[in-house]
Amino acid sequence: MSNAPSSFSNLPTVSVAEARRAETVGREVVVHGWVRTRRDSKAGFSFLEINDGSCFGNVQVIADRGLANYESELKRLGPGASVTVAGAVEASPGKGQATEVHATAVVVHGMADAETYPLQKKGHSFEFLRTIAHLRPRTNTFGAVARVRNCVCNAIHRFFQERGFLYVHTPLITASDCEGAGAMFQVKETVKAANGATEEFFGRPAFLTVSGQLEAETFACSLGKTYTFGPTFRAEHSNTPRHLAEFWMIEPEMAFCDLWGDMELAEGLLKRIFRDVLEQCPEDMQFFNQRIDPTVIETLEHILQSEFLRVSYTEAVAILETSGQAFEFPTAWGCDLQAEHERYLTEKHFRRPVILYDYPRSIKPFYMRVNDDGRTVRAMDVLVPKVGEIIGGSQREERLDVLESRMKEQGLNPESYWWYLDLRRYGTVPHAGFGLGLERILLFITGMQNIRDVIPFPRAPGNAEF
Ligand code: 4AD
Ligand code: MG
Repeated sequence: MSNAPSSFSNLPTVSVAEARRAETVGREVVVHGWVRTRRDSKAGFSFLEINDGSCFGNVQVIADRGLANYESELKRLGPGASVTVAGAVEASPGKGQATEVHATAVVVHGMADAETYPLQKKGHSFEFLRTIAHLRPRTNTFGAVARVRNCVCNAIHRFFQERGFLYVHTPLITASDCEGAGAMFQVKETVKAANGATEEFFGRPAFLTVSGQLEAETFACSLGKTYTFGPTFRAEHSNTPRHLAEFWMIEPEMAFCDLWGDMELAEGLLKRIFRDVLEQCPEDMQFFNQRIDPTVIETLEHILQSEFLRVSYTEAVAILETSGQAFEFPTAWGCDLQAEHERYLTEKHFRRPVILYDYPRSIKPFYMRVNDDGRTVRAMDVLVPKVGEIIGGSQREERLDVLESRMKEQGLNPESYWWYLDLRRYGTVPHAGFGLGLERILLFITGMQNIRDVIPFPRAPGNAEF
């Protein structure tokens, strides 16, 4: 046991999750972790609640005054201190726990000063916890978010791998603005040329990517089915609970696929994620359901049993126009839908996830396939209650001439996209894909209100401390 103090070297180390299981009763083990609370009994022993991040619950350790360091160290342990415990796992008479550990030795690695430890008391606001992002993973909420986030990522990789999708890595530094929205962070590094002049490092303006889609398309148009999973950056100055300057996006791209196949993939992926989270993180989901939003479990279970609706943008606008609802932004055909509209549709009108498709060409990027009506493009957005858009995707424009004219229409120079256009010049195929915002789906699953609380270190305007 390389990570246990040498005096325990003959004992197996178990996680707190294992130590909490009834099957572990009767075993002598070593457990590591951080103290959540200490309670002293008049009978001459102390209860320590220990957590190591392996699960939501703590394991209770009973430390007897017979232990050598009981008075000198153990009676000074408080929240945040780190310990290694050796002892016997026994059935617990206590409520809410199957087991407890009767310590034969407790090694203290580090005390946490009760005067200054920021997590001394319970019940801090999420705003305050954002100012101590380096310690907030020690709280119940952020431990649960971290485990659910991990589960979602695992589900995503497994979903695609089981279906033969190739995981490709697209560059974080790029020269092209995929979404054409101009919300890019510039990479400003320069180099000295031989003649002493200062030149741009990449010989041209370069940016942090807003999406790996364009590069992913090159792989899909060579290798069939691909997906990316990485960070993306947007210099949007929208300081909202749903926007980050750095967020993680999953972007599948499929050759020989149309918009309907794209929708099917999106629905399949989301359902797989929801199913895995319910199955694999029951304790964490119970916590979110009890403490954050009492509808999250029921909502996910309901979604697993129903089909996502598919509704055209035109139908959606008609619904909004006749809703009798007073929106801050009035709707008319051609307008971009605001969060309030998306929420009305999913929360009030349909009461479930909806896939909206065929949006006006004027409000969507150049790469989306133009429909025969000439007014709309083969776009699809997946909208969910409370969060709004979690997926944006489309069938791609595979016709060279149409794509070139769309670029010009949007003020882009086709020459700088020569490589992207080559995919249409040589062996073009119908293809489609989408982008799923990882933090958006985490908001939906957990019921957390602010996107800054579902990513370890949020990047937002004025915010890059950690
Ligand atoms: O709709 P978007 O902009 O689509 C694309 O980037 C396409 N290139 C994707 C593709 O077809 N391959 O972004 C996709 C998703 C959104 O639906 C949303 O979930 C998330 O990314 N997203 C953000 N999440 C957090 N903060 C932001 N600022 C976000 N902007 C988009
Ligand atoms: Mg979008």
